[in-house]
Amino acid sequence: MTDETTANLILGDMDYEMPTVVGTESEVGLDVRKLRANTGMVTYDPGYGNTGSCSSAITFIDGELGILRYRGYPIEQVAAAASFVEVCYLLVYGRLPSLGEYDDFRNALTRHTLLHEDMKKFFEGFPPNSHPMAILSSMVVALSTYYRDTTTEADINRNIIRLIAKVSTIAAFSYKKSVGQPFVYPRNDLSYTENFLYMMFSVPTEPYEVPPVVNSALNLLLILHADHEQNCSTSTVRMVGSSEANLFASISAGISALSGPLHGGANQKVIDMLRKIRDDGGNYQKYMDMAKDKESGFRLMGFGHRVYKNYDPRAMLLKKSADQALAELGVDDPLLDIARNLEEIALKDDYFVERKLYPNVDFYSGILYRAMGIPTNMFTVMFALGRLPGWIAHWREMRDDPEGKIHRPRQIYIGATERDFVPITER
Ligand code: CMC
Repeated sequence: MTDETTANLILGDMDYEMPTVVGTESEVGLDVRKLRANTGMVTYDPGYGNTGSCSSAITFIDGELGILRYRGYPIEQVAAAASFVEVCYLLVYGRLPSLGEYDDFRNALTRHTLLHEDMKKFFEGFPPNSHPMAILSSMVVALSTYYRDTTTEADINRNIIRLIAKVSTIAAFSYKKSVGQPFVYPRNDLSYTENFLYMMFSVPTEPYEVPPVVNSALNLLLILHADHEQNCSTSTVRMVGSSEANLFASISAGISALSGPLHGGANQKVIDMLRKIRDDGGNYQKYMDMAKDKESGFRLMGFGHRVYKNYDPRAMLLKKSADQALAELGVDDPLLDIARNLEEIALKDDYFVERKLYPNVDFYSGILYRAMGIPTNMFTVMFALGRLPGWIAHWREMRDDPEGKIHRPRQIYIGATERDFVPITER
């Protein structure tokens, strides 16, 4: 790089000058948009680990220092003082709401929690043991058959509010479906998080009284999951949305991306892993050895991150909160001890130290969900509920970006060169 504004790429006798893009935190990107047109070359970056796919003003992460900020506000401060609804407003609209704006937003969310009665029939069609993530993504794309695609700001905004409100109802209904219990309708006198817990855990014979500690734990979990810049599911939302697919279709695609075990599905896998270690009589070494053996196909779930090469600040907050919540609820979960021991062993192990593999957000979130009574197959749905405002904010930002265009990466073709087609009768 010659200075802050241009970089030179020298290849053979070619000297190509590229502009740079500098972010507000001094991150520098090489602008390769005209590289192919001017040199015939593309950049090669499988998994996009080193590709800036957009500029964004939503979330800043410094993976080396373990920093996470939403719209500039440090996650520690947000987690200590905000409600999840306030964070939704901050991420989607780009600023903190005034008291009046907050009340209006909260009321709007409360008024849109009901699902169209016909949508209940969709739930009947899913097999009894359906994974709630599959139900969630199906139901979210189904919303687009009720609420039409729109381009006016006011209508988009209404669809955003509908989505945030209805996803909590869909998530709770998908759980009820999976356990064969009747759906519990939302209540307008409860907060967003209380209402979700009420719909999840009430039965017709006994309404659920939400313990404040469970409500605070849910608020924290949703806030910590609310955005994480260009992760797999968010990039999927942007990718799908870049074709001008509607909000519901784009978010449904993000939910599908989140369901994989290397992404949001990891929280469920962490609990499976901790259970196995427990059932193996606490044989940590066996699992450490397997994690280090590339042939085993096993990884320590809840460890490692594409961006964090330091302790994930979300994992730090969750570890503390899991300790407090379990103590307050009087829950003695042996899996918490196993998690703590495993963390201690891994953080001292050369393999993990060299590769800078630390616990990520999924390592302790499952323990907290368990203490709240949330079943394992709902963990990733909880992640989706939290990530929703982030996805929406990115969808909106992508849509409003004057430089935005349909996402269409290039490739390096490595298949057969031209050859003659052989008719089926001659093969
Ligand atoms: N256990 C054992 N080895 C690991 C782990 C792990 N959990 N994570 C990474 N490594 C090793 C990996 O084998 C590689 O070793 P080497 O350099 O010898 O080939 C090195 O560390 C770098 O790993 P990578 O796969 O190149 O890193 P990545 O950025 O592509 O993957 C990751 C990031 C999160 C997919 C990966 O760390 C992983 O699979 N972790 C376990 C699954 C998990 O916890 N996922 C949740 C991520 S956080 C929340 C979310 O995004 O949804």
